Amino acid sequence: MAVTEMQSRLVEEIQEWKKKRNAVLLAHNYELPEIQDIADVLGDSLALARAAVNTDAEVIVFCGVHFMAETAAILNPEKTVLLPDLEAGCSLADSITVEQLREWKAEHPGAVVVAYVNTTAEVKAESDYCCTSSNAVDIVRSIPEEKEVLFLPDMFLGSFVKRETGRENMHIWMGECHVHAGIQPYQVEDVFTQHPDAELLVHPECGCSTSSMYLMSEGVLPEEKTHILSTGNMLKHSKASKADEFIVATEVGIIHQMEKQNPKKRFVAANPDAVCPFMKMITLEKVLDALKQNNYVITVPKETAEKAKLAIDRMISVG
Ligand code: 13P
Ligand code: SF4
Repeated sequence: MAVTEMQSRLVEEIQEWKKKRNAVLLAHNYELPEIQDIADVLGDSLALARAAVNTDAEVIVFCGVHFMAETAAILNPEKTVLLPDLEAGCSLADSITVEQLREWKAEHPGAVVVAYVNTTAEVKAESDYCCTSSNAVDIVRSIPEEKEVLFLPDMFLGSFVKRETGRENMHIWMGECHVHAGIQPYQVEDVFTQHPDAELLVHPECGCSTSSMYLMSEGVLPEEKTHILSTGNMLKHSKASKADEFIVATEVGIIHQMEKQNPKKRFVAANPDAVCPFMKMITLEKVLDALKQNNYVITVPKETAEKAKLAIDRMISVG
């Protein structure tokens, strides 16, 4: 993508302000290309949470969505965590409230609660473990077999984990991300028919992930070419694989990075309309404003943060 004069000026100013404020810029793989290009660390949810722990910077500018900045704030109570647009939320995190979780727990006394990182700090504080798409299977496997598990809030990731672990005593909350749920099985099959030699990379939050697993077991999709992965692992896989064409079933922002890292390979979106409006709210202008005007400081009440941190620390230590 050609960088405009305006963008280069903004980038220069951002770099100056980053130095002035001793700030680091963390960005998710779904961010706009120009944000990905200036990130100090670009990654999936787990990599970004780890980067937030490991940084020496005094200010963390989180180019992602609200729950990610909250997680960084919980891990770094002494640092300033900025989210350049407060409206950058997440439909999946909104699919369960803390009151709903309390009611669910009351129906299953003694169950272990595993919350996907796409949840509010309040929900995390009521959970035993947090997980991301890259370590959800390992975390559920680590829980003693006889314990009931409540997995929330994503039903597609939950089904994937249940299938991978073969765990019967796992209950799944029926939440979804509207972007990933919108990637339909028929779209994946259609694109696959047009690109039969391509490898298929599917995010476990997708509406098509369950059917992809089913189609794999039926031999419709070749098992050796179908991979259900977090965004970070999709990037690793597309680099390491010998294939030169990939169908990408996740938010399309990741394709910028895939193309940048693999200029000779081709990447086709399973659904080109799979765009997360929240991730795209973070622009260069807003990043600069965040640094200049301290927009918007994300804080979490101490008691909630302390409880949530136990679940987040368990997430960071696995996988
Ligand atoms: P990962 O990058 O951890 O795979 O998560 C995807 C996502 O939807 C983040 O909001
Ligand atoms: Fe939330 Fe979905 Fe956007 Fe990820 S892609 S931030 S899960 S709405």
